[in-house]
Amino acid sequence: MNPTEKANAIKAMKGGGRPVSALTAYDYPTGRLLDEAGVDIILVGDSLGMVVLGFPDTTHVTLAMMEHHTAAVARGVRNALVVGDMPIHSYQTPQQALATARTLVNAGADAVKLEGGIRQVEKIRSIIGAGIPVIGHHGMLPQRVREEGGYKKKGKTEAESSAILKGALALQEAGCFAIVLESVVPELAETITSRLDIPTIGIGCKGTSTQQTCDGEIAVITDIIGSYPWFVPPFATVRADVAGEINHAVREYIASIQ
Ligand code: KIV
Repeated sequence: MNPTEKANAIKAMKGGGRPVSALTAYDYPTGRLLDEAGVDIILVGDSLGMVVLGFPDTTHVTLAMMEHHTAAVARGVRNALVVGDMPIHSYQTPQQALATARTLVNAGADAVKLEGGIRQVEKIRSIIGAGIPVIGHHGMLPQRVREEGGYKKKGKTEAESSAILKGALALQEAGCFAIVLESVVPELAETITSRLDIPTIGIGCKGTSTQQTCDGEIAVITDIIGSYPWFVPPFATVRADVAGEINHAVREYIASIQ
């Protein structure tokens, strides 16, 4: 399947009974392992700034970093849709947004993701007009963490909920094939999911771990495999202890060569 067919296949999963599965990856082995396990979408997220590069947030990530990691992941993936995340300051105008999207596609991405609602519509149209599929990202926007003074749950007031719903509808209207919804209250996630014809892919949008408020789920890979134990968001379900395994293996190795 070509990138547009892959994106259309994700879009067609709306209401199809099977939730869209999405995970982040930042390197070749992880991309390959996730693909072999059958995940639908692999996002080369700008979360790499924190969980791979050791920065305090995503605002330090550059396009050159995203290009480098997108190329590594893409080399390992055969089936999943690879999404390259557009970093902060790389989509300030429609022209710059298209140039950035092309850079990530040339590195191996099938599609790109950018953060924000109504104010991104012209940029999204310019990227989609060039034949590159776009996934939106609305709700809590990590690239705005400094202005907002932290990561805050969104949609707690009527005004905020209505602005986010309008933004999500605008992203659909602009042609996005899906939308990542991050850290919005469960009721708002459910409303947006029922109002949109494209899949919502949630992170931090559930009241309980078993509740389904979106058409799919995305998680940061290091959160679910336990390879970045120094910070785990409260909504993450940790399913493995890779950090513990590494510690054990390294201690065993050191002991073995004494
Ligand atoms: O960069 C990232 O990992 C993301 C996810 C949190 C959706 O944008």
